[in-house]
Amino acid sequence: MARRYSSGADPSDFGDLLSPSEAEEPILARPVRAALLEWLTEIWAAEELLAVGLKPRRRALFHGPPGTGKTTLAHHLAARLGLPLLVVRPEKLVDSLLGGTGRNIGALFEAVREEPAVLFFDEFEAIAAARQPGGRDAQREMNSVVNVLLQRIEGHDGFIIAASNFARSLDPAIWRRFELQIEIEVPGQEERERILARYLAPFGLPAAALAGLARACDTASPALLRMLCEGLKRNLVIGPQVGWPMDRDGVFDRVLAAAVPHPDLGRPELWTRGRKAPALAGLPWPLPRLDDLPGIEAAESAGGLLRPAVVVPWPGRGE
Ligand SMILES: Nc1ncnc2c1ncn2[C@@H]1O[C@H](COP(=O)(O)OP(=O)(O)O)[C@@H](O)[C@H]1O
Ligand SMILES: [Mg+2]
Repeated sequence: MARRYSSGADPSDFGDLLSPSEAEEPILARPVRAALLEWLTEIWAAEELLAVGLKPRRRALFHGPPGTGKTTLAHHLAARLGLPLLVVRPEKLVDSLLGGTGRNIGALFEAVREEPAVLFFDEFEAIAAARQPGGRDAQREMNSVVNVLLQRIEGHDGFIIAASNFARSLDPAIWRRFELQIEIEVPGQEERERILARYLAPFGLPAAALAGLARACDTASPALLRMLCEGLKRNLVIGPQVGWPMDRDGVFDRVLAAAVPHPDLGRPELWTRGRKAPALAGLPWPLPRLDDLPGIEAAESAGGLLRPAVVVPWPGRGE
């Protein structure tokens, strides 16, 4: 069905629209989970808050290293609100013509006003870097982009989430517009164990072996842990079919070479020591299946956030 937008733009012109049904819940540290649950509860209680003259907070900034789940979390939160997530791509906004980026930002906000979605600015520092005094055209243009962004954010009734790996480079006025600022760090030991268990399933490890492997992955991002687990599983399925050596050392050599830690995050022991990492010595091999490990829980039980999707009354939805 053709739809007309007053601005002429469609939300999907500015990025990818992710549907609620595809969302998955990231595994996060307890304090972060608590803050998010508080926010969701506040949004679900919008009417009760309104009755006492308050509105739920609508803008959240997630900052922290790459691969820690910022995008995954934004998608999950949008899904909990029953809304799609519009992942705005900075390259779809930035325009080399003078004033072009500001116009694109305007068109984006118009488009989302007519088709509610949670707006998600990834790599937010790309458009919201701190304004600098100074006369160069390029700098003036960047400053004016931040000014447009400030006005548009202020005037927007819907939810906005922004994510940045370089939060310190964001403009302070932009920063202040975000009522919730959540730092998402690389996971600690407990979260690493849960992340490994999630992505290893339907394989599993006895508790001590899982803990050892998680310790050897200290400083790894969840994205890297996922790559490690999926690499192992892929090897276990494909390896025998293509004739690869399937001993533990051989499999780990291949998987660790293919899953490369992000350069900003350092190399966990498992990567620096490889097959010699002590954690591997205690690892049962071939990897057992969860079914064969009595007493080990199969599925990751949902944290505090998982609740049925609730469609909240949308403040800017119009009639
Ligand atoms: N906290 C987490 N728990 C479970 N999986 C995660 C987590 N963080 C990231 N991942 C996985 O790593 C990949 C990259 O995550 P992403 O959300 O894009 O990270 P970021 O936006 O912080 O760079 C995704 O496939 C996601 O499933
Ligand atoms: Mg991301």
